[in-house]
This record gives sequence, C-alpha cells and structure tokens, in this order.
Amino acid sequence: MFKHLSSLSPDPILGLLASYRADENPHKIDLGVGVYKDESGHTGVLQAVKEAETRLLQSEETKAYIGPAGTVGFNRAMQELILGADHPALAANRVRSAQTPGGCGALRVLAEFVNRAEPGATIWVSDPTWANHVPLLGNAGLQIKTYPYYDRASSSLRFEAMVEALSEVGRGDLVLLHACCHNPCGADLSRDQWRQLAQMAQKQGFTPFIDMAYQGFGEGLADDAWGLRLMAESVDEMLVAASCSKNFGLYRERVGLAMVVYGDAASADRGQSQLLNVVRGNYSMPPSHGAAIVESILSDAGLRANWEEELTEMRERINGLRLGLVENLAAAGASGDFSFIQRQKGMFSFLGITPEQVQRLQQEYSIYMVDSSRISIAGLSQSNMEYFCRAVASIL
Ligand code: LMR
Repeated sequence: MFKHLSSLSPDPILGLLASYRADENPHKIDLGVGVYKDESGHTGVLQAVKEAETRLLQSEETKAYIGPAGTVGFNRAMQELILGADHPALAANRVRSAQTPGGCGALRVLAEFVNRAEPGATIWVSDPTWANHVPLLGNAGLQIKTYPYYDRASSSLRFEAMVEALSEVGRGDLVLLHACCHNPCGADLSRDQWRQLAQMAQKQGFTPFIDMAYQGFGEGLADDAWGLRLMAESVDEMLVAASCSKNFGLYRERVGLAMVVYGDAASADRGQSQLLNVVRGNYSMPPSHGAAIVESILSDAGLRANWEEELTEMRERINGLRLGLVENLAAAGASGDFSFIQRQKGMFSFLGITPEQVQRLQQEYSIYMVDSSRISIAGLSQSNMEYFCRAVASIL
C-alpha cells in the first residue's frame, strides 16, 4: 500500500531547524521558525506560566475527559481577551467557541466547519500569507484564491490593489485577514484600512476569517485586536482562529481557540453543535494542560498582571531589535533602505534579498532564514547583531 509513496521535501519553515541544529559554526544564527527568544537565544517558560503550572499541580483533581469544547472558563476568558469583555457580540450572546490544539487546530476545525455550511467555499488569502494556511484550509475542502497584499520592491502594503481584488468578493466567500503582526511580512493594516475593509464586508457580504496568532506582540493586547473588534461589530458573521503559542509562550502545549460570531443566538447554538461535531470527528477533544494554564492566568488578577508585564517585555525587546537592526545595517554599510523594518510589527519581516542571497548567508555565515528572506526578529540579539549585519552587507 505504501510502496508507491514518494518522499516530500521538509516543511520550508520547520525543516530549517534541523539544518540549524546540525551546523557546528559557533556563530550560527537561527532566524527561521517564529519562536520568541530572549537575549541569550533561549525560549524560556514565562514566570506567570510556571506559577500557574505550580498551582495547577496542587489543585488538579482529575484527568477525566474535558469534552470537545474544552472548558467553559477557558472559552469565556479567551473570548473576552480577543473581543474585549464588553463587546456587543458577546452581550448579544452571538459568540461560540471551542478550545483547540493550537492556532493550527483552530484554523483546521473552522475550515471544516465552513465546508459544512458552504461546501467548497472560496477563501481569499493574502499574497503572501503564512505557508501553512494553504494546506490547513485547502485540505479541509476550501478553494484558495489570493489577493495582493505586500509589495516586495517597496516593502509596503498594496492596499489599493487589495481593495480592488476584493471589490467583487461577495456572500458565500471568505476573506482571511491577519489580526496583527502579519506573518510573513510584518506589514499591518492601519485603522483606516480596517474601517474600509469592515465597510466592504458589511456591504458585499463576504465573511471575514481572522487569524490572531500574535495578540500582544504588535502594539498591545487591545490595540492588536482593534481591527478584529471593529470587524465583529460591523458584520453578522465572522470566524476567528486564535493561538496562545506566542503570547503565552505555550508553543508545545498546543493551545488555541476556534471562535465563531453568529447572526443571532439561535444560529449560534445550531452552529456550535456542528463545530463540536467537527472536533469529535477529528481528535475528539483538545488537550487540557496548556489551556488550563491560560485560564488560570487570565482569571487571576495577580498572574494576569505578571503575564502582561512579561508580554510587554517580549514586545519591547522585538521593537528594540527592529530599531537596532535598521541602525546596524546602515552602520555595516548595507546598501538599500531598511527603515521599513522599524515600521513593521511582530515577529517577522522580509529582509528583501533573493533566495540565492539567502542561501549564501546560510552557506557562508551559518545564518538561517526562510527562502523568502523572512526573518524571525527575536533570533537576533546584541551579541549577534553586528555579525549578522556585516554578513548581510557582504552579500548585497
Ligand atoms: C512560523 O511561521 O514560523 C510559526 O508560525 C511556526 C510555524 O508553525 O510555522
């Protein structure tokens, strides 16, 4: 049965890790996978998470099943984190959700849910988008089309072209938007641009599908959700896939939320029964541990304050690195204008070099990044910044 299977090349993002680990150059730098690292290059466990885990260890009384939706407390806390506690959609009882194995689990469950409501529906994704969006959504049966989003030549948004491409998109189609910290390009929509898209969604009837993987990594927890919250006020129906991998540093625990905003409470109840049926037919129910940590942090004022401080520290370190990168590239004599890096948000930016130049950085300097020249900014530090910038200047 399996003899005829051909082998596939490694995932373009995850595959880099193996090459990086095997590299013996002491100066090697990993700017590949989107994992936050501190100044010493370590991805530590947040203190708030450690504390919540300690408490959990003491208080946990059972390992019995938690059910396809996960816990009520986690779902409620996450809905409020994403939408804001006083959002009108929550007040109108139009929101339902399920705890999922990471943001990927949320994307996949929501895609299958959409496919039940509108089989083979078209979802418009940004060009470029996170590479894994296409299999996660497409393998569930959705048709993928792209809209222009980022201009590599000028390192800026192609908003007019985006609006033009989406101007004919109507009811029955979905539009995937990144809530903040666009992966891979780091260029986010302004508030005016969100307003315009919300009006288009309202008028044309397409369904927004928002991926929120980096809440708190751009400008702050509420600011990063501003566009999403506006969208949820403007339309009847909307989907959100959220991840706790980055903002809680819970990567390997797999914690996420699949959230749906419905037109009314009765549709919400019917829809939720379908969503939970999708979950049951996939993995039956989500893992508990990571979500219990998140629930504990979000429901305890002290832990929450500690977490928010740690999140702010991560965000500010990335923003400091962005500024440092622009300055150090200039100091190293790198040709070109890299000031866009400072204007962009979150973990990623494109350096804007060719795949050949990316290969040279890897072969000659042991610097690892995705072929598209996407760099995960948190892999930089005060100690490797100069080495990195001199290497970039040399291959330009
Ligand atoms: C990334 O884009 O590097 C992260 O979202 C991790 C992943 O799974 O690709």
